[in-house]
This record gives sequence, structure tokens and C-alpha cells, in this order.
Amino acid sequence: MNARTDDDLAVRLRRTLADDLARGGDLRSPEWRRAVETVPREVFLGERIYRRVDTETWTRWEPLVAADLGAERWLGLAYTDESWVTQLDGRDGQAESDGPVVSEVRGTPTSSSTMPGLVVRMLEDLRVEDGHRVLEIGTGTGYSTALMCERLGAGLVTSVEVDPGVAARARDALHRAGYHPALIVGDGLAGHPAGAPYDRAVATCAVRRIPDAWLEQVRPGGLVLATLSGWLYGSALARLTVTGPGKAEGEFLPGTVSFMPARPHAAPPPGELPPREGERRDAVFGAEVLDEWTSLWIAQLAMPTATSVTVCYPDDEPPACCLVDHATGSWAWLHEVSEGRTTVRQSGPVRLWDRIEAALGAWHEAGAPEQQAFRLRVSGGEQVVFLPDAPVLRWRLPG
Ligand SMILES: C[S@@+](CC[C@H](N)C(=O)[O-])C[C@H]1O[C@@H](n2cnc3c(N)ncnc32)[C@H](O)[C@@H]1O
Repeated sequence: MNARTDDDLAVRLRRTLADDLARGGDLRSPEWRRAVETVPREVFLGERIYRRVDTETWTRWEPLVAADLGAERWLGLAYTDESWVTQLDGRDGQAESDGPVVSEVRGTPTSSSTMPGLVVRMLEDLRVEDGHRVLEIGTGTGYSTALMCERLGAGLVTSVEVDPGVAARARDALHRAGYHPALIVGDGLAGHPAGAPYDRAVATCAVRRIPDAWLEQVRPGGLVLATLSGWLYGSALARLTVTGPGKAEGEFLPGTVSFMPARPHAAPPPGELPPREGERRDAVFGAEVLDEWTSLWIAQLAMPTATSVTVCYPDDEPPACCLVDHATGSWAWLHEVSEGRTTVRQSGPVRLWDRIEAALGAWHEAGAPEQQAFRLRVSGGEQVVFLPDAPVLRWRLPG
């Protein structure tokens, strides 16, 4: 295809993407539709993206290279409503694009172009209006930054990216697409005070708690939209209204939104496994609660400093789940001994599975409400997730 035909195809694909996102309810306003129909996502994907391939035992990443696929297939990928990983383990894969392509790679995604449907849904949920100044945390490829520039004008957009290589590529792509927002390389948890006050802050990396800096830099009445996540990988999308310096209150939005963690908030490595011993009893809840969206989130609220690993054994023994509390060194081993029956062995200063089960029990007693029923309040240096009128369902986010 020649350049002209590529451009025509990209225009058509953008329109189709916008139609699909509108049908799915993510794209709701003419302003954001215009942005989706204008911003060339292919410019932000660089030369190489990674497709997730799940095997029975692990996830691998298959590199897809623009030069090998040809323009038509590459554009097809760019305008699919999918997240495309662009960096693994903080390694600068894009810079290696002249080198040999490894046919499959294991690793942890550290940067990506978020699926357009989610980007647009969050931008709609951010309730942006003409003239608003927006702070974005997690520039990534720059695609979401470009949508904001298109909607508001680049002069009103500030975006912070922690990874210098990722930030440099986003800058290039944004400039090539004709956008010149304020691009900051650094830890977005500190915001960017020089550009404050902002009307809106939006994070495309997940945080364990809302950084104080965002609440100081967003004006009272302004909104902060961020995914609250944690070391058990429970997630919830929170929208807060700033009510004063360091004070805010808000809600959790529907849907199962998850993002890679802000680097300083990432879970610590599991470390050496503790011995499979401790006080033993039958568990009320088995490890399957950690596979369900809301119960996982409740477990994480109850034990925010715990991580979990599934341990597979070479013989016929079923896999076990091991939780370790990094604050106290306590642990819990969960073994499914027969269908529907799990035993737990706990040791250390905190009986961590007891705590998780108490929280899950109280949540069930309250009718197992969805995340949207909860609220988040920030004041006096504390961040509390609570179910209104249920004093037992109330947890402080880790400091
Ligand atoms: C999911 S990607 C962002 C996607 C992006 N909005 C897009 O449309 O391409 C998350 C990004 O957050 C960045 N990030 C992680 N921790 C950060 C931090 N503390 N401050 C700023 N950026 C951070 C990662 O390097 C990564 O590029």
C-alpha cells in the first residue's frame, strides 16, 4: 500500500473504532469522538508491540513487529480495542528493534498502550470540560495524552512518565502527531507542582493510596480518577472530589479496571517461601476467593501488606496458595485437601487468613455488595474505604 492508501485506511479504522466504542458505551460525547477519530494510534505504538499468550503454566509475550507485518495488518492492530504491551521488565525493547526478534519472551509488562475503550471511558468519567487543566500520571506511549491534547489543547495538558526511555518515545510520537503538551520525566506520585492547580488528575498506572501531592495540586472541587490496587492485585477505579488541601471523598466506578502499578507501589518480590507449617484448621474460605474480583479486593483491604503465590508441585499433589505478610513476616498456607475442603496453616504475629476470613464474613453478611457501594474518604492523612452505615466494613489504605 502507498502512504495515501494507508492514511485513508487509518481514517476508516478510526471511525470504525469510534463507532464500536460508542456502541459499547465507553465513548459518550462528541468531543471525545472527535479526538478518537483524529489521533493516529499507530504513531504511538512504535515499531514493536507484544501480544499476550497464556499457556497452562505461564504467560509469554509474542513480539509483533511493524516492518514484518506490513502497514495494513499493523493499522488493524492499532485500531483494535486492545491493550498492547510496549515494554517488559523495564527493558527498552523498542530500542532493540533493529536486532533479532525473539519469538517469545517471558516477563512482566512495565509499559503499554492501554486499550482505547478503557482510555476513553476514563476520560469520559473524568468529566473534563473546555478550559480544564489536566494532570496525567503514566504517559506510556502518549496515546491518551494525545487524546487530551486534541480535546483540550496541548497547553492545558501535563503528563508525567517515570521511565526516561518510554518518556522519550512518547515525546517523539506526540511531536510527530503535532502535540506539544508539558511532558515531565519523573515519579508521577509527586505530581508536577509547577503546573498546578489542575482541574483534573488521571492516573493510567495503579496506586495503593492516592498520593498527597495530587490532592494538593488539584483545586478544591476538582476530580482525581485513579485505579487503587495493591499487592494481592485487587483493583478498583476510584473517582474522588477534592474538598480541600489533602482532603477528598468519592466513589468507586463500575467495571473491572486494572493497570500496572506505579513503580514505587509495586508488590515486593515473594522472596523465599516459608515452611509449610503452622497452626492448622479447616478454612471457611478457600484460595478461590483470591480469584474473584470483589472478594480479592476485600481480602487485600483486610491485609494490604500481604502477597500471595500459587505453588505447583511436580507430583499429583494439588497446588497450594501461600500468603506472606511483608509487614510482620506472618504467613498462611492454603491446601485444598478435598473438593470444597481447604485447610489453612498459619504462623507469625498475625493470623492473616483469620483476618481475611473475618473481612469476607462481614462482607457476606452485608449482602456481598459490589465495589460501587463503597466509598473512599481522605482526611487527616488517612485514607479510608468504607461501606456507608456498616461500621465493620471499613479499612485504612496502607500509608
Ligand atoms: C499503562 S501505561 C500508560 C498508558 C498510556 N496512558 C497510554 O495510553 O499509552 C502505564 C505507564 O505508567 C508509567 N509509570 C509507572 N509508575 C509511574 C510513576 N510512578 N510515575 C509516572 N509514570 C509511571 C509506566 O512506566 C507506564 O509507561
